[in-house]
Amino acid sequence: MILLYVEILKRFTPTEYVNSIYDIDILSLKNKGIKVLVADIDNTLAKTKERIPAEAVVRWIEKAKSYGMHVVLSSNNSQKRVSEYNKSLKLFAVHRAYKPFKYGFSKIAKKFNVQKHEICMIGDQIFTDIWGANKAGVMSVLVMPLSTDEGIGIRLKRYVEHLILKKSKINTYCLVGNPVAHSKSPMLHGIIYKHCGIKAHYMLCFADNERLGGIVSQFKAFGVKGFNITVPFKHDIMQYLDYVSDDATRIGTVNVVKISGGKCYGYNTDGEGFIMQLKSDKTKIENSKIKIIGAGGATPAIVYALTKEGVGSIAIYNRTFEKAEEIAKRFQSCEAKRLEEFEASDCDILINTTSAGLFPNTENSPVDNLDGISPQTVLYDIIYNPSETKLMRMARKKGCKAHNGVKLLIYQGLLADEIWFERKFTDESLVQKIINEMGVE
Ligand code: ATR
Repeated sequence: MILLYVEILKRFTPTEYVNSIYDIDILSLKNKGIKVLVADIDNTLAKTKERIPAEAVVRWIEKAKSYGMHVVLSSNNSQKRVSEYNKSLKLFAVHRAYKPFKYGFSKIAKKFNVQKHEICMIGDQIFTDIWGANKAGVMSVLVMPLSTDEGIGIRLKRYVEHLILKKSKINTYCLVGNPVAHSKSPMLHGIIYKHCGIKAHYMLCFADNERLGGIVSQFKAFGVKGFNITVPFKHDIMQYLDYVSDDATRIGTVNVVKISGGKCYGYNTDGEGFIMQLKSDKTKIENSKIKIIGAGGATPAIVYALTKEGVGSIAIYNRTFEKAEEIAKRFQSCEAKRLEEFEASDCDILINTTSAGLFPNTENSPVDNLDGISPQTVLYDIIYNPSETKLMRMARKKGCKAHNGVKLLIYQGLLADEIWFERKFTDESLVQKIINEMGVE
């Protein structure tokens, strides 16, 4: 009986589950050997009333084609609907597909001279798109539906789909931001879940300001268990949460949300993650003199966590002085400085939180020189791509230890998983395994 149940669940379980077509990593599908993307029209590419493809959809199709992929349209709808939508796209299209359509996939395989395992079905419905793909031995990606104004029949089906997703224990977690496509978070959490025997899936969700509240409601409705928030929504997300931790309130930003019992709980693990990195490097924090370059989104979390650890003093240097001032006045032992005043001398820990030097602008640095820096000063750059920034190179030339942001990324992620799964993850051997498997330095 249990086996039968597992078998049934397997039939309805997608290979991947993402928020929208824009969150699909087309390049990684290509690397997996996929040559043809079969995209459902209604509620996947277009809202049910949309007659012509949105510009973003056209760009998405062009991008897939530029990677050498074929894109096929599929729909249960009439030829009229499909032809109208396909008029400018001029793609190969399958109408009245009455998915699950094993026959349709054979037709597509023949048309493009590919094997079934080289096709990927993308759709919003488990009972048609995903089931059909699984039946045909085709990879499948489930996306969240674009419209919510659906008829009662579809709504009922969605309810059952929701139950299946819950039962199949695809506990879903997510990164919400703009941009997100190149984030290493899915890889990071994937490795953690594999090593810790957790059945969960981490997806990416590209958002814009208008959709942020809608995304939170969608997550609740679809049983998403938690999500990370990144630039530029770490502050704006707070208005949609039912509870925000004291630390996150003091910092003013949230990077982790747990969804439980239909309520959203917000936390911030950036600062604590940074402290864990310092501790794992055995960098002394107490009473130390700290200089921070940058007053962007990451700075308040780092300043707050450092003050909790009893640092001696913190000076924040920023190009836009007012931003440094705004942060400095909120925390103890903290002063704001103009970037032009920066001197690298008389400092135990130097931290770069600016984006200067981030890929692809790897020849940038927030300061021209580190003259006067002591070789005892330890530099932390929160950038992890490239693994050695120009600033790190400058510090190393002066005999200083210099660390990038990889460990911060890992620790804030492990701490997020601790909140979601209510168990301990932060141990050094796991961090080392993650570093090795991510192929980062
Ligand atoms: P965030 O989204 O994290 O807030 P951001 O707005 O790009 O990121 O700002 C990050 C920090 O990098 C800011 O302190 C920014 O300085 P300003 O406040 O003056 O804009 C800083 N920054 C970015 N590029 C810089 C550069 N080339 N030189 C110096 N500081 C830079």
